[in-house]
Amino acid sequence: MDKKYEKAKEKLKQYKQEHLLIWYDKLIEQKREELLNQILKIDFEQIEELYKQTKRKQDFKDSAIEPISYMDKEKLSKEERTAYEEDGIRVIKEGKYAVVTMAGGQGTRLGHNGPKGTFELEVGEKAPIPLFTILAQTILKARKKYNAVIPWYIMTSKENNYKTTNFFERHNYFGMGQENVTFFIQNELPMVDVKGKILVDEKGLVKLAADGHGGIFEAMRNDGVIADMKRRGIEWVFIAGVDNVLAKMVDPVLTGMAIKNKCFAAGKSVVKNNPKERVGVFCKKDNRPSVIEYTEITDEMAEATDEAGELLYGESHILCNLFHIKAIHEIAKNKLPYHSAFKKAKYIDKNGVIVVPEVPNAYKFESFLFDAFEKLDNMAIMRVKREEEFAPVKNAEGVDSPETASKLYMDFMKHHK
Ligand code: UD1
Repeated sequence: MDKKYEKAKEKLKQYKQEHLLIWYDKLIEQKREELLNQILKIDFEQIEELYKQTKRKQDFKDSAIEPISYMDKEKLSKEERTAYEEDGIRVIKEGKYAVVTMAGGQGTRLGHNGPKGTFELEVGEKAPIPLFTILAQTILKARKKYNAVIPWYIMTSKENNYKTTNFFERHNYFGMGQENVTFFIQNELPMVDVKGKILVDEKGLVKLAADGHGGIFEAMRNDGVIADMKRRGIEWVFIAGVDNVLAKMVDPVLTGMAIKNKCFAAGKSVVKNNPKERVGVFCKKDNRPSVIEYTEITDEMAEATDEAGELLYGESHILCNLFHIKAIHEIAKNKLPYHSAFKKAKYIDKNGVIVVPEVPNAYKFESFLFDAFEKLDNMAIMRVKREEEFAPVKNAEGVDSPETASKLYMDFMKHHK
């Protein structure tokens, strides 16, 4: 232990982060060990670089950004649609299709205590139902329709993994068979304050936060998910967030579209409601598919319109994307870039006082799944109807809240029982 302590201390000195050990003596043995392990795992050079990056302004001027072309599902001819659908159905029926749900986020905006997937939504039935149950029902329906096993992989975070797996156990894996539901844990990174110092959490440990869903590919590789998919003969993998209760996760048309257009990935879009809507938009960046996030788009780009008055960057990314297993394998070989977000983070200061900030005080570093699109030559984008496929539960009230999602879900169900 002493050796480990010395090693950690040395490392901290080198990077001027010695404060991480100030509560060490007050911790119980097991926590001391945990703290040292955390410190030894940190890539301080990476953290320094990420902190420096927060001082640079995001600039798209160096890249050529253009609108992306897409296919409107509504406007496909009957023949086209059938041809796509047939290809997709074949894949699903042959057991070559899997679904991944990203459920590692903290759901802070929703204010729900626990994994976001356990949040219960009123959907007009006797009792409200958890988001995970709604997603499970979508998969179960597809399993029945195509008479196929559709393995489900769920990405959790260290923070919510236990509660998530426990939830599934209690729900008996929704009758899908435990062997068809697999969990894997995403990575974490330390949070730093405005001076670049890593925060200490209220337990005296390093303040860590989930490092964004872009780590999904690496986590899939490291946790053996890619290998498991290959073993099962999976070819196409649909990846979506946990919070869209209308996510059409098993989609033969999208799959067929990717296959027929010889793309290794496909994504769904809906028309952006207004320039300020908090969604990312698909675009082409240096001639490759990409998404500009709502936190990073300039007002000028967000408001630009074409001759018909339509938003030039109006294809909202709804975090419903499909990847070929070969693309996942390739993407997983490299790290995606990190973006920083300035957030409120509870921490313990050097006097031992727990600080609960009322304004943002720390940087959180996250990579985004869609930065992987730029690694692909091309991507099939399919515009779908918002009222059929996009009902996110993000905020406690107002836009994209349980209230709006619940209404959209119930309206949809009335017509698609
Ligand atoms: C996200 C997209 C945005 C898109 C919008 C559509 C990002 C960064 N942006 O915005 O382009 O238009 O959804 O609704 O995703 N998650 C993890 N691990 C993490 C972080 C998030 O699994 O470390 C999961 C969450 O559980 C959630 C999903 O990713 O299911 C989306 O995350 P969130 O932070 O809510 O993204 P948005 O800002 O809503």
